[in-house]
Parts: sequence; C-alpha cells; structure tokens
Amino acid sequence: MGRTAVVTGEGQGGAKHPAAANWSPAIRLKYLFLTATVFGGSYVIISLTTYTNTVFVNNEAQFGFSRDLHHQKEPSERYTIKTKGCSIPGLDPYDEHIKEFVKFPRKMKSCPNVNKTLLNNNKTHIWVLEENKPHYNITEDQDFSCCYKAFHRPSTVQDIDGIEIDDRIQYQDCVHFDDFIKVTDEFVRVLCYSDGLETYQQFFLFAPHKEFKSHGTNEITGDKRAYNVIIMGIDAVSRMNFHRTMPKTLQFLKNKGSVELVGYNKVGDNTFPNLIPLLLGIKENELKTTCLPYDQLTFDNCPFVWEWFKQAGYYTALGEDSSLLGSFNYLKVGFSKTPTDYYLHTFINEAETKSGKVKDFNSYLCMDEKYFFQVLLDYIEDLTITLRSSKLFGFFWEITMSHDYLNYPMIMDSSYELFFKKLERSNYLDDTIIVLLSDHGMRWGDIRSTKQGRLEERLPFVNILLPPSFKETYVSAYNNLRINSRRLTTPFDLHETLNDLVNLKYIEDENIRFRSNEFYAFKRGISLFFPIPDNRTCEMASIDDHWCTCHKGKKLSKDSSEAIEAAAHLVRQLNSLLSDHVQCAKLVLSQLIDVTEMEVGTPSVDEVGWREFMVTVQTTPGNGIFEATLRQSKVEWTLAGTISRLNLYGDQSICIHNYQLKLYCYCQ
Ligand SMILES: *[C@@H]1O[C@H](CO)[C@@H](O)[C@H](O)[C@H]1NC(C)=O
Ligand SMILES: *[C@@H]1O[C@H](CO)[C@@H](O)[C@H](O)[C@H]1NC(C)=O
Ligand SMILES: *[C@@H]1O[C@H](CO)[C@@H](O)[C@H](O)[C@H]1NC(C)=O
Ligand SMILES: *[C@@H]1O[C@H](CO)[C@@H](O)[C@H](O)[C@H]1NC(C)=O
Repeated sequence: MGRTAVVTGEGQGGAKHPAAANWSPAIRLKYLFLTATVFGGSYVIISLTTYTNTVFVNNEAQFGFSRDLHHQKEPSERYTIKTKGCSIPGLDPYDEHIKEFVKFPRKMKSCPNVNKTLLNNNKTHIWVLEENKPHYNITEDQDFSCCYKAFHRPSTVQDIDGIEIDDRIQYQDCVHFDDFIKVTDEFVRVLCYSDGLETYQQFFLFAPHKEFKSHGTNEITGDKRAYNVIIMGIDAVSRMNFHRTMPKTLQFLKNKGSVELVGYNKVGDNTFPNLIPLLLGIKENELKTTCLPYDQLTFDNCPFVWEWFKQAGYYTALGEDSSLLGSFNYLKVGFSKTPTDYYLHTFINEAETKSGKVKDFNSYLCMDEKYFFQVLLDYIEDLTITLRSSKLFGFFWEITMSHDYLNYPMIMDSSYELFFKKLERSNYLDDTIIVLLSDHGMRWGDIRSTKQGRLEERLPFVNILLPPSFKETYVSAYNNLRINSRRLTTPFDLHETLNDLVNLKYIEDENIRFRSNEFYAFKRGISLFFPIPDNRTCEMASIDDHWCTCHKGKKLSKDSSEAIEAAAHLVRQLNSLLSDHVQCAKLVLSQLIDVTEMEVGTPSVDEVGWREFMVTVQTTPGNGIFEATLRQSKVEWTLAGTISRLNLYGDQSICIHNYQLKLYCYCQ
C-alpha cells in the first residue's frame, strides 16, 4: 500500500513487458565499435586535428588550460560553464533569493533510544549491554533471553506473488543467548524477552565474505591494476545544495583532489529516468526494447553496468537505504534473480517494515535507534574491509534523509566526512575510484519558484575522486576529465566512463588519441576520459529542451498575447492528458505565473521555424503549479519534454495509479 503515497512523481510506473530480450548484443556492439576505433586504422587520425585544443594534454600550461582548470568561481561570475555550445548562468550557493531557504533543520530528527540500545555488536559478535537493561525495565529477577534469527533471500522462488518477488525472505530458526553470540550471517534480527514477554528488537547487517559466485573466479581477469569502483548517490541534491549543506564532505573531497562536474545536467524529471542512463546508457523509454518488454516485470534481463564488472572479476554490490522509495521498487517490481553478490534490498525492506521509525513525509529516517543512511554507510565500510583483497564494484543510493527536504543533508555531512576519512585511513582510497553524485536537485517547494531553484533542479552534483596512481598512469584520461568538468555533461557520459573502468586498456594514453574522432563526438554519451566537444549542445547530448540549462530566456509580459496563448495551451495539454480518466477533474487556469521565451540562439528562429516558451501556471481545483516548455510553430503548439509539477499533490491524486498522471490529476 504505502508505495502509492504522496511522493510527487517519484518512480516511473511499473512497465509491464514480454519475455527476455537478450541484452548483450547492444552492449557487445558498442564494445566492438570501441575496439574497432581504438585499433582500427588511420581514418580516425584525420579528424583528430579538430580536437587538438582539448585532447590528451600532458602539459596543460602549454595549451593554456591551467587557468580554466584551476579556476575558482567567484560568486559574481556570470557563467557556470561557458562553451561554444552551452552557457549556463553563474550560480551562487548563497544567492539572495536562496538564502532564506537555507537553515539547519529546526527539530533535529533524532532516532528513539539512540544511546540506549540493549544490544551492541562488532563484526563477529552481538552482545547484551547490561547497563541499558533498566531503560527497558528489565530487572535482575526476571527471566531474560534473546533470540537470534538470521534471514536471507531464498534462491528458489515458489508461491510468491509476482509483485512481491523482490521482497521474499526466509527466517532461520531461533538461536537463544543471554549474554553474547557469535555471528555468521548477513542479515539478523534479534528479539529479546523478559519473563516471556517480547521487550526488545534490533536488526543487524553484516558483510560476511562470500564465495564468489558471479563467474566462478574472483580473479580480476583483465588488468591487474583494476580499481575498486564505488558509486554513492545522495538523492535530490543540486551542486549548489551540496555546497550549502555538506561543506565538510565537499572540503574533504576537494583536498583529495576530486573533480567536480560543474556542467552536469540531468536528463529526466526524477530519480529513475536519470539512473537508467547512468546504469544502462539508455533512456527510460528504451527499456521496453532493451530488456523490459511488456510481459516482463522485473529488471533481471537489463544490462546494468555491474554485469560488466562481474565479468571482469569484480564482486558487485547494490544497496539503497529505502525500500519504500527504492529506485527499482517504488511502483516497480525490482529483481527476481539476485542482481549482485551483495544485495541490500532484502535487509532494508524487512528492517523498514518491522523497525522503521520517525516517518518524516515519505521516508522512515530511522531503523530503530539508527539512521537508515548510517546503516548504508556502515555497510559500505564493512564491504570495503571484507573485500579488501578482491575488487568491488558497488552502487549505493541514499534516499531517506535527502529526498524530501532541502536542508536535511546537513544532518549527514559529518557522517559522510567521517566515512571518507575512514576509507582514507585504511588506504582504501589508494586503489578506489569514488563517484559521489546526485540525480537532480529539489523538485518542489519554495526554492523551485526562484529562477536559481529552477536551474538547481536540473544541475545535480557530481564529484569524482581518483587515486594518485590513476592520475599518474592515465595522464591523458585524467586531463580530459578535468577539462570536461567545465563542459556540458550527462548521466549518459558517466555510463561510458564506467564502461571504460571495466578495462583500463581503453584509456591508456595511446588509445585515447585513437578514439578522439568526429563520429565519436556525436555519440549521446561520451566517456569523460575523452574530450567532450566544446560545441556540444543539449541536443547533441540528448538533453530535452525542458531540462536544458544552456538556454537563456526573456520574460514576457503576462498580458502579452503570446503569454496568454501559451498558458492556455499548457492547460489544454494537461486536460488532454487527463481526458481518458473521468475521475480526474477538468483543470482551469487560475493564475498565469510566468512565461519566458527561450532564446533559440543559432540557428535562428526563422531558420528553425519555431519559438519556445517556458510557461508556469496554477490551476484549479487543487491549486497545482505546473511548468512546461512549449514550442510554437506556424501550424501548432507542441510540448517539449514533460510537464513538471512544482508543488506537492499529496492525496489529491489517490484515484489514479499512473505515475505520470498522478502529477496532474485532481480526483473528484
Ligand atoms: C549519544 O551519544 C553521543 C556520543 O556520546 C552524543 O554525542 C549524543 O549527544 C548522544 N545523543 C543523545 C540523544 O543522547
Ligand atoms: C568482538 O567482540 C567479541 C566479544 O566481545 C570479542 O571477543 C572479539 O574479539 C571482538 N572482535 C573484534 C574484531 O573486535
Ligand atoms: C518502564 O517503566 C516506566 C514506569 O512504569 C514506564 O514509564 C516506561 O515507559 C517503561 N519503559 C519501557 C521501555 O517500557
Ligand atoms: C562541433 O564541432 C565538430 C568538430 O569540430 C564539428 O564537426 C561539428 O560540425 C560542430 N557541430 C556544431 C553543431 O557546431
């Protein structure tokens, strides 16, 4: 039930599809192409000259790049990035229209019994904390014992309703103890009883060593110098908001020489349409033909990037700190086969159901006495220790704390900083590539009604931390990455970048020269280790106009005929989307909030034959605020991209289950 609640359009409805399109051909082809360009002959070289100003510069000063690279942006600066193809306006984290929204969360959301747990643990044992017994009114004369119950995800699937297939678990028998117990399992629930009454429960998550089952060997098959690759997402945090709310984490990464992608532009509205390009290199609507045909509910056949790391001999891990809002489980069915060697959903789903505390809007912040985000961080740390002598590819996503509130990431800053410091202390960062990133900025609330808030929504943060040995070995790749940090980039590019990390041969200096050709420059995704063209536009990068931050706009008077026509058209569009659903009220324009004509640039309006307007309106009933980009040609108005909703719909749309229409429908 809970899964249909009040999020504004999180998740994109469970596409229902036919059997297993085999995924490998698409990606195989890509690799064939890639190999062909790397090793394939001289025609490639001819076009190289086009990019000599950006390619594989070992001595950056010689080419006049040092200023660009080491340049610190002053708040007064006019551009975030300025290239031939794209200029993004300058942003200041403490812009005067933004400042008022930035405050430490008023009530510090702490978890119950935070320093009073009845049980404690290390990596091998769980034990009773005698000193905390009084807190639970457990006295000496009572009969006290605890029951250790391990649980796991059964590998065989029987009698499970399709929808719940990813949530399947099985508990093992109870093992009683009254002081301490040795741990041998991955997921554990402990229940304690005094005089036969259940008085306490606590969940425990461990990262035990597992037999490597992915491909029969845990040897890295390719390059022995392979790096661990750890991707850590923090949901819904713009680059500016990362600077505002997590300054310690940012400073740590900066001190270690991380690269920040300043021109990273989202490609879809919410989490899912931005994660699919990152993890699969395709658009959400291409899933149908790639791996989610209509009678296929689960993501089992999808060519996620971790499949490549598996084949290269990596251990793989997938974990999110929420099941309710899980990227593959919110209004979706998740996985039937276990996708990775370490798969956290099984644990989080059970812990959220039985131990979720402090529900704040959409998420449970706490697993009893501990923040869910901290559960995730500790788990990642444990994995790095367990798998120290192997290689790990991990994809981890934090949702609970950051999803709904602009300022809650402040609560996590010290914990993330400490997490990275621990990895540094254990020398883990010496052979590990970390990508800390988000999917988009805050998508609703007061900040979205500001001009900067609109840009922030479209410009999530990305920080990439590479170890010194990487920078020394892959000099050209590293320099290209630094140059690209000030180019227009997308999740599609990150996907290509990850593919390159599977086999580092691709990014050795001499191979980089060969892959830098014109054809390559027009690919939807370009590895960040290769030069991204200076003239790249949103269109070249596959960013819909509605999400594109490169455009400049001119505000129109609300009385102008264009403004009135554009607003009327947006409301017509909304009603036509809802027209098949009689339970949704017909929407009527109540306020024209803003109409901005977007500058087309080159080619000019006359050449392209259309004008483009960004329109924001409010409608009744329900007072929804909607924003869309509309195109006007000589013959018709069309919608460029989807219609965004800027305020929450709450329970207004409870009568409809289509994720997209939920944003628009007012149930009557
Ligand atoms: C719990 O203990 C920590 C560390 O001793 C302390 O900083 C924190 O304030 C305590 N929290 C509560 C709610 O008592
Ligand atoms: C964990 O705790 C147990 C019981 O207190 C102790 O014997 C063991 O040495 C501890 N292990 C580690 C790694 O600290
Ligand atoms: C312990 O007993 C006190 C007094 O009866 C009561 O207020 C408190 O809620 C009890 N605590 C727990 C954890 O049951
Ligand atoms: C961008 O630059 C490339 C390489 O110089 C060139 O082939 C292409 O035509 C340019 N594209 C646009 C849209 O200007």
